[in-house]
Amino acid sequence: MPERYAKITGWGKYVPERVLTNADLEKMVDTTDEWITTRTGIKERRIRGENEQASDFSVKSALPALQMAGITPKDLDLIIVACSSPDYLVPGVATIVQHKLGAQCGAFQLASGCSGWVYALVTASQFIQAGSMNNILVIGTDLVSYGVDYTDRTTCVLFGDASASVVLQPSEEPAGVITYELGSDGSGVHHLYVPGAGSVMPIGKYGERLINERLGYLKMNGQEVFKFATRTLSSSMKRVMDKAGLLPDDIALFIPHQANLRIIESAARMMRQPLDKFMINLQKYGNTSAASVPLALVEAIEEGRCKVGDKVVMCAFGAGLTWASAVVLLGSGEVSLAHSWLSLGRIARRTVGKARDAVQNFLLNMQLRRYEAKRKAKAR
Ligand code: UT7
Repeated sequence: MPERYAKITGWGKYVPERVLTNADLEKMVDTTDEWITTRTGIKERRIRGENEQASDFSVKSALPALQMAGITPKDLDLIIVACSSPDYLVPGVATIVQHKLGAQCGAFQLASGCSGWVYALVTASQFIQAGSMNNILVIGTDLVSYGVDYTDRTTCVLFGDASASVVLQPSEEPAGVITYELGSDGSGVHHLYVPGAGSVMPIGKYGERLINERLGYLKMNGQEVFKFATRTLSSSMKRVMDKAGLLPDDIALFIPHQANLRIIESAARMMRQPLDKFMINLQKYGNTSAASVPLALVEAIEEGRCKVGDKVVMCAFGAGLTWASAVVLLGSGEVSLAHSWLSLGRIARRTVGKARDAVQNFLLNMQLRRYEAKRKAKAR
């Protein structure tokens, strides 16, 4: 029997409209655009609308991914939603996503902080490679803004809200996750966590304390996480490349978790790779937790920074402390078709845009000429 691979055949993203800039944050906490830019690289982030929940985000990024893969929600065998900011504490958000999509399959939430989506991608690939499933939707969604304390300048400037999805389907030609590493070091749990509202401090018993001491919000020991992140990013990416027998030069693009530009720069230095081989979009979105790596992947494909046949390395890290890396081969077939349609779509949009501009210019010139002729006639 030929080997079975789990190929990415569709992808989609969703970011909310509301933009929170560094200038906006300057009015909220004691910070400056200069501090945020030089220490993190972030310029702005997206914040959910008042009534938008993780399930809404997930559906909005999933629908284009399903359409691109050429399947409907009814064709799905499984939905995994990597998310640590669900609509409710119980149940997980995946079941709500399944219902809103109208899918008829199993669904579960994978809460592994910022590493969640890479964990989910690897998990989904196993079901397909084992031959037990054919169509899996892997979503990464986080609405970090609702869990962030907007009086705490050490965390609130870093995070934003987003969602991105891929569809995995079987393929006989090599594609998808080639090698991976899933890591966890629970000794660092208190470096990045929400102290209250879990079983350690239930709301019913500690409600007042949770509110007064703001324990229901995300707390972070930035420097410890920074050290862990710089250590982990380059070393884990190197290990997955080694496992695949690949060198950094074999890789078309590195897609790291978008937490801090300095962390990415440090990885590039350690790996002796130019920074432009690293996908970076954190200036637009900040750290979107589980959505970070898939959002960067989707934008990298959209911008033509990686294409069919390319090998990319993804690495996410975060709360837990956890990390997850994977070497992924972007397969041909549906992916190339999807990519061509996407490119055609882009060319068509650009052409339509240019044509629209030309027509508008023409009409404007006509108007100006008419106006000028009238003015001259009046003057005579
Ligand atoms: O996805 C989860 C992964 N999370 C991460 O990867 C985050 C990792 N950590 C980091 O990215 C960085 O540690 C931060 C960006 C969070 C902080 O940067 P840093 O260079 O480590 O700053 P610091 O914590 O050492 O703080 C330096 C100074 C302090 O002031 P003093 O004590 O030197 O007077 C902070 O109080 O900067 C101050 N500070 C700020 N100043 C202006 C902290 N936050 C801010 C702020 N604006 N927003």
